[in-house]
This record gives sequence, structure tokens and C-alpha cells, in this order.
Amino acid sequence: MKNITIIKGNIAYTKTLEKFEIHEDSFIVAKDGKIEGIYADIPSKYRSFEIEDYGDRIIIPGFVDLHVHAAQYMQSGIGMTRQLLEWLNDYTYNLERKFQDEEFAEMAYEAFADKLLSVGTLRSCIFASSSTKGTQILFEALRKKGLGAYVGKVNMDTNAPGFIIESTKNSIEGTKQLIEMYKGEGLVKPIITPRFAPTSTKGLLKELGDLAVKYGIPVQSHVNENREEMEWVREIFPDNKSYIDVYDSNSLFGQTPTVMAHAIYLEEEEIEYMREKGVFIAHCPDSNINVRSGIMPLRKYIDRGLKIGLGSDVAGGHKIGMNEAIVRAVQLSKILNIMDKSYRPVEFSEAFYIGTKGGGEFFGNTGSFEDGYSLDALVIEDEKAIAQNYSILDRLEKFIYTGDDRNICARYVEGVKIG
Ligand code: GUN
Ligand code: FE
Repeated sequence: MKNITIIKGNIAYTKTLEKFEIHEDSFIVAKDGKIEGIYADIPSKYRSFEIEDYGDRIIIPGFVDLHVHAAQYMQSGIGMTRQLLEWLNDYTYNLERKFQDEEFAEMAYEAFADKLLSVGTLRSCIFASSSTKGTQILFEALRKKGLGAYVGKVNMDTNAPGFIIESTKNSIEGTKQLIEMYKGEGLVKPIITPRFAPTSTKGLLKELGDLAVKYGIPVQSHVNENREEMEWVREIFPDNKSYIDVYDSNSLFGQTPTVMAHAIYLEEEEIEYMREKGVFIAHCPDSNINVRSGIMPLRKYIDRGLKIGLGSDVAGGHKIGMNEAIVRAVQLSKILNIMDKSYRPVEFSEAFYIGTKGGGEFFGNTGSFEDGYSLDALVIEDEKAIAQNYSILDRLEKFIYTGDDRNICARYVEGVKIG
């Protein structure tokens, strides 16, 4: 047998929303990066292989960020009193412009990829900028680290400053180029990325949808994030029956695997339509507060069976570590409960699930330690005094609430140790 990875420690993951699976002092065995099983004692056929023994540390699935803007990483925590549309105009577009400069892109994307690795985000859906060359630099930076990701050149051809938009033709040509370069094997893959409806002409959306279908490439964008943004969409696209319909009528809503960030404000029939089409929602709680968009009814969407992952939405969100998003998802659901007692807040296991397995489903089988899943794992080290006095589940909750990259001592993607 070749390519066997065996790691040992206290294993914790969520197979379902309701509860954690905990295997104390156990072995995870993976073959060619896929999990074969979890064992309390190592089966004899694996005895001759090397075992990485992490002792009393906790092993959890890698975090999945379903929505993050790599080109905004440098401005995390800046301009945080602006509302969404002001924040885009006053800060964000100016920074994204700089990614036309290759040296700048190399420096900034290297820092981003370093940080993503250190905080344990092993899979992510990433917006780059509108620069084709800049986006290529991001593909390479992530590949070098061994991280898994979908990366999109941001398509925009209207309703934003001239220095950041492109002609429809150039936007499509650049997207096609990147698809051709990266559509093959590898953990970093292309995704079609219209920024959002308002910065896209109908022509651009149609051509992007055609590309998605022709090449079988997934799609990501923003939808129903903010009341003012939604009003703007109604003005620009009066012939479409909804914001969702602007994407859907152009093959950008579930015709290929699709993830939409936010979706805070959904009518009943829209919830049902998203479920039917299997479109993922990237819930981005920090961002929703920072740029004053609203509070997504997470419990309601979970109960309605929607596919949901978590997003940092850096830099609408100010923290890139996904433990922050897990905490904030729980906290926001409590605010809804405070305002309406009949609204049940989400449990810790549910928030952890959507930050790992929920978002992981967009990448295939990742985010859990069930058989056949990719061995994407983080090894967590906490303080001795805590480890000696608390259960594994308490220790894990404490890490999620109070820990950071300093507590992550090893990272594996598809059975390969990458940091
Ligand atoms: N809508 C369009 N662009 C953006 C962006 O960069 N961040 C967020 N949060 N929403 C957007
Ligand atoms: Fe975003």
C-alpha cells in the first residue's frame, strides 16, 4: 500500500448538524488522501506505516471559507463604519485597482495565502480582483501553499469607477484564459465570478453564464445582501422578476454548482427555489454587521434544508479566521432570539458543521472525517491547564471562541501535511 497517512489524537467532527462525533485518543487512517477509517487501535495491516502522534491535542476538519476577497485582505478592519455601497466606493475599489500592478499583487497575495494557511482555512471560494494577471498570481500563491480553493477573476463592466471595470470583451477573454490555464487537475480551480448584478451588463452576465455551462465551471457572486443594493438591482434590471432572476436567466444560478454570498432577504418562494436548485449560501455574519446589511435568518434556512457554509467575507468581515465566523453565526442567531423568543438560536455544533462540512460540500467530500472524505485536518493545541481540566468538546468550544492561529500546530490537505 502506498500513500498512507496516519495521525493520532483526540478526534472531533460533525457528521450531522446536531452533534459532535468524538473519538478520544484514536487514529485516522487515509489512503491517497481519502479517509479509510477511525480506529481506537491501529489495525495490523497499517502497523508498518509511520504514525504522527499528536498526543492529547485535538484533531478537527480544516475550516472552509465559502466567501472571501483576497484582494481586500490588506484593508481588513479599515473603513468599518461605512455602509456597503459607500464602503465599496470609498475604500474597496481603490485597493482592488492596485492589483493591476504585478509586484503589488505578488506581495499582497503572498501575505493572504500565508494567513489563510496559518488560520487553518484549507478550502475557500475566493474573489480576486478584475485584473487577469493579478488573479493568475493568486492561483500560483495558493498552489504553492498546497491549499484547496476556487479562485475567480472578478468580472465587472459597468457602474463602478473606470479604473476598475473592463470592457465586456476583455473581462470575458481574461476569464477564458484563466479557465484554460487552470481547469485541469489541481487543488486550485477556476470559478466564474460576476462581482454582483449591479456591476454587470446583461451582455456580460450572458457570456459568463455561457462560459460556466460550456466548461462546467462553478459560479459565485453576491445576492440580496443589503436593502439599498437590492433597490439598485431593481432599478437597473426592471425586466427581471428578482435579483435571483438576474443570475438565473443568464445560467448563473445552479446551472453549474453555485454559491451566493449573503442572501439575507429571501422571500418564501426564493428560499424554495434556492433549495430546489441546490445553490449554496455563504453566510457571512461579521460582514453583515460591519457594512450594516442585516441579520440572515440562519435557523430558518437550516430548517428549510438550504445548503449553507460560512464566509469571512474579508474585508467586509474584519477577521479571516473561520472560528470568528462560527462564533458570530451563533451570536447573531441569539440576537434574533432576543428579538423574537420563538426564533431558536443555533447550537455550537450547527455553527461548527456549517463552517466545516456545510461549506466543504461545495468541494466534494471534505469538512468531515467520515470514510471517503478528504483528510483535511487541523491539529489544535490548547493550554495544559485547560486540557487537563475540561472535556474535549469544552476544549474545542474554547478554542473556537478564544483561540487563533497560534493554537494550530499542524495542517493537512488530502492527507499531506502542508504546515
Ligand atoms: N457586493 C459587491 N461587491 C462586494 C464586496 O466586495 N463585498 C461585499 N460584502 N459585498 C459586495
Ligand atoms: Fe463579498
